[in-house]
Amino acid sequence: MLHSATINVMVKAARRAGRSLKRDLGEVENLQVSLKGPANFVTMADKRAEEMLYSDLDKARPGYGFIGEEGGVREGADKSHTWIVDPLDGTTNFLHGIPQFAISIGLQREGTMIAGLIYNPANDDLYLAERGKGAFLNDQRLRVAGRRKLNECVIACGLPHIGRGDHELSRLEMTEIQNQVAGLRRFGAAALDMAFVASGRLDGYWERNLQPWDMAAGQIIVREAGGIVSGIEGDDDPLKTGNVVCGNEFIHAELVKILKPLGKQVSGNQ
Ligand code: IPD
Ligand code: CA
Ligand code: CA
Repeated sequence: MLHSATINVMVKAARRAGRSLKRDLGEVENLQVSLKGPANFVTMADKRAEEMLYSDLDKARPGYGFIGEEGGVREGADKSHTWIVDPLDGTTNFLHGIPQFAISIGLQREGTMIAGLIYNPANDDLYLAERGKGAFLNDQRLRVAGRRKLNECVIACGLPHIGRGDHELSRLEMTEIQNQVAGLRRFGAAALDMAFVASGRLDGYWERNLQPWDMAAGQIIVREAGGIVSGIEGDDDPLKTGNVVCGNEFIHAELVKILKPLGKQVSGNQ
């Protein structure tokens, strides 16, 4: 499979940072038995991965802007292009040695996502998409699942943890969806949840209170796989609202139909 020069740059950067994360995962497994656990070590691993990604992407595309979860915004001379990067999505999984985490790299041009990559170094799954050129998992073309009936679908969600998000709303949403689907899942890495929708493993996914770097790459990968991605209002931009719902056009619509009114029902939410 021949990819553009930009995709090659992204793949090279992700694989190098991925090797570092995979090595660190080994150490995390050793540190589980210690009293303090691997928390500080993981923070360092996360930062190290982001610095590697920044340095490789900046070297190959000097001047592009860079928004990373760890380092924040780094302006570049080129105001049209911005990398949106999560060096380690699924930190809690990583911290516990659960191999469901990923590097996520999105590239925006003039406000439009033009390329995305999600890479899980633990199992070497590499998801890619470029605007107008389709989505791929390890060079195999991706297509979202075709199911139209919610009661046959496996759907993933996010769950707010202690001190974050609206727990009452989350429980309400889960109860509603749970009653109507074949299976509900919580995997713990938003980027991979979206990649799973793109690859048809999951029929749909929703979550609230995310950040742009959780979804930037996933958004274009799902869309290039033929899926629909929006905020929970159904027509809002997830990168702006932080709320996301995706699936094929039918399942996306079904999920919006259930979730949108619940958000209004619980005070303090749009
Ligand atoms: C988190 C993961 C998780 C989602 C959280 C995100 P992080 O990202 O994507 O699945 O539920 O809301 O913050 O912190 O592991 O990069
Ligand atoms: Ca994240
Ligand atoms: Ca992260």
